[in-house]
Amino acid sequence: MEKTLTPKRPLIIAHRGASSVAPENTLAAFEMALELGADGIELDVMLSADGKLAVIHDFSVDRTTNGTGKVPQLSLAKLKTLDAGFKKAAAYQGERIPTLEEVFSAVGGKLLINVELKNYHAPFDRLTEAVVACVQEFGLLESVLLSSFNPFNLLKAQRLEPALKRGLLTVPGKKGRIMRGWPGRFFPYDALHPYFCDVDAEMVQGQHSYGRQVNVWTVNSPEEMQRLADLEVDMLITDDPALAREVLEG
Ligand code: G3P
Ligand code: MG
Repeated sequence: MEKTLTPKRPLIIAHRGASSVAPENTLAAFEMALELGADGIELDVMLSADGKLAVIHDFSVDRTTNGTGKVPQLSLAKLKTLDAGFKKAAAYQGERIPTLEEVFSAVGGKLLINVELKNYHAPFDRLTEAVVACVQEFGLLESVLLSSFNPFNLLKAQRLEPALKRGLLTVPGKKGRIMRGWPGRFFPYDALHPYFCDVDAEMVQGQHSYGRQVNVWTVNSPEEMQRLADLEVDMLITDDPALAREVLEG
């Protein structure tokens, strides 16, 4: 029987960084993910009013910072004045919204980086172009994976840089099933990023037979982590990378 020195397990991707313990989408959360032994991080990026790559999940800054307003209407200089840490815990007061360049400088090459293209409010803006150029500039083609619910972003990325891996995100339930049904024929991608409840053996085997990875979001319960590992998914995107290591590595 063939022996494997390293048992196969899904890679652990810290969702918005180690967001169960540190403020989401901040350098503190990404560095914490590294410290906790995650294999990678997931982050969200959109364009600021002056076309800079701001790493933030919500369209508005209200939930995660001490500011108000919509990210695409605020300049990077304005975004940088906001505190993106204290709402998580006082210890993180002063943490800033990072740019993609700052994240790449801090952890690029040390972690796999799943960049979610978050331009759902402006699907034909220049976000994909800017992200692809940034990945090329930092020489991170091997360790960055783009993803988006908008398949047009992935198509554009493929044309700009065929070597860059692309994951199609799908929403839970029936809408997700429709997305998985037809866009693949027109929008080729390297990995499917489904919601965890939708994942079963048939899906994993089917995607693997097409040569695609199955990278699942957002998995936070030990039972689900184990179920998905048993199905041999490729990546678990989780808020709690420490828990995932405990479950997957015993
Ligand atoms: O990439 C998986 C996940 O991040 C997609 O949803 O809303 O957390 O960005 P959301
Ligand atoms: Mg995301």
